[in-house]
Amino acid sequence: MTSPSTTLSLVDTDPAELAVDAIVIGVHSTTGEQDATSGLAGTLLLASGAESIAAAFDGKLTETLALLGATGGPGEVIKLATLGTVTAPVLAAVGLGPEPSGAAPAPETLRRAAGAAVRALAGSARVAMTLPLPDDADAADALRAVAEGALLGGYRFAGYKTRPQPTRREPVAEVLVAVPDAADAAAQAEVVRAQTVAGAVRRTRDWVNIAPNELRPPAFADAVAEAGRAAGLDVEVLDEVALREGGYGGIIAVGQGSEAPPRLVKLTYTPDGGGTGKRVALVGKGITFDTGGISIKPAQGMWEMKSDMAGAAAVAATMLAVAELKPSVAVTGYVPMAENMPSGTSYRPGDVVTMFNGKKVEVLNTDAEGRMILGDAMARACADGCDYLFETSTLTGGQVVSLGKRISGVMGTAELCERVRGAGDAVGEPAWPMPLPDDVRKGMDSDVADISQVNAGMDRAGHMLQGGVFLREFVTDDVAWAHIDIAGPSYHAGEATGYWTKGGTGVPVRTLLHLIDDVAANG
Ligand code: BES
Ligand code: MN
Ligand code: ZN
Repeated sequence: MTSPSTTLSLVDTDPAELAVDAIVIGVHSTTGEQDATSGLAGTLLLASGAESIAAAFDGKLTETLALLGATGGPGEVIKLATLGTVTAPVLAAVGLGPEPSGAAPAPETLRRAAGAAVRALAGSARVAMTLPLPDDADAADALRAVAEGALLGGYRFAGYKTRPQPTRREPVAEVLVAVPDAADAAAQAEVVRAQTVAGAVRRTRDWVNIAPNELRPPAFADAVAEAGRAAGLDVEVLDEVALREGGYGGIIAVGQGSEAPPRLVKLTYTPDGGGTGKRVALVGKGITFDTGGISIKPAQGMWEMKSDMAGAAAVAATMLAVAELKPSVAVTGYVPMAENMPSGTSYRPGDVVTMFNGKKVEVLNTDAEGRMILGDAMARACADGCDYLFETSTLTGGQVVSLGKRISGVMGTAELCERVRGAGDAVGEPAWPMPLPDDVRKGMDSDVADISQVNAGMDRAGHMLQGGVFLREFVTDDVAWAHIDIAGPSYHAGEATGYWTKGGTGVPVRTLLHLIDDVAANG
């Protein structure tokens, strides 16, 4: 299943004369005093890029937008009919917030604005946008942000409705972005990259949004393997027999309760000529549905646990983008997949499981299943050899409690956590470093095994940190690693906002791609 796609290209002709269905401009809010004649509080400020359109409106554009209620606030989109003033029949003014002094808006502001505008213009086939882009060293980042925002705001999951929806407006099919020079090679390169990146985010969203009965581990593994081969990656799939023989006790334990057996998919990208010699491993949690198992979850909201493979989807889609972007570092993706179900064959609290690295884990709660499959996959990544290991998972409700639905929690080696935070900041996927305290590890001492899967007294204190502390046991000392808990940010249950649509968000695909570039450039 693939959702309809949006295409994007650059133009450098006068925006007022573009033959499109709608044209998007930016407006800033100002903190101006109440206007004496209109009585309206504050005055809008048209963002740069809107000059020729403002001229076509004969100086009345700001006033008209204010009359229609525009404030220039972030996320706001005001549409008006242009009635022959410019070629496009519809003008959409998207709010950018206050104008930053002496600078163009931050890339994330532009990304959200482009996404909001494209969403608001659903039903239009061709849309052009002329947003404020800096002409200095930040030009590439700004253009990339606009392109990503537009392509992601244009995402819609195909869904399962059997009848056409007469009131539903189709996502924008084609976006033109106005730039000073459309033939500029650097600008063109940003568009190509944004298309690849947004393609990976959209694919992640699709995989997350697919109904869990349609994406059980064997089907998910087939889909990832097929896409990986088509992209030119080396693909290895371990089925339940290979997993059992290979000693992947954690993946087998979690998967044994389901009729749909577990898998481990390995995707390998090798740079031409060996690249810089650095090796990056990516690991993503692929629980295709998390009922909790024998430690079953409450019914309310359980459907959202179809998104418990968001980390796996992000890693697999990132690998597909890597195959296109061809960075100069080796990158290997590991995607363990299982369905966590209660049944007569399920693993149970009290079980002791031997993991891939030989460590014995005492199971206390079958709902802490993510760390069981991830421990095996991370140990395998270390056994294969890697310099950096990034693992991402919808691991704990504790992440949502402590950092909310936007900010991922990061645990691991300090320097790498800081790089993840920086990467998240750069791409608009905020992430925050969290500690791995000794007392939390102490609380996970088991009476019978090497470690308990959670706090031995089932104390939920430091809940997110318990996940990080547990996963550390499966990384060898020579590897820099980071665990990115995306329980909140990977899934958006609310109404669409900015370039986030309902359902899967595609977090942290853009962070992972940024980190891979970072390692390629800086080691
Ligand atoms: N998949 C869940 C975590 C989760 C919660 C993801 C909310 C997305 C939104 C995970 O497997 C889980 O069940 N975690 C438990 C761990 C506990 C049993 C130690 C949790 O968070 O309560
Ligand atoms: Mn669980
Ligand atoms: Zn889970």
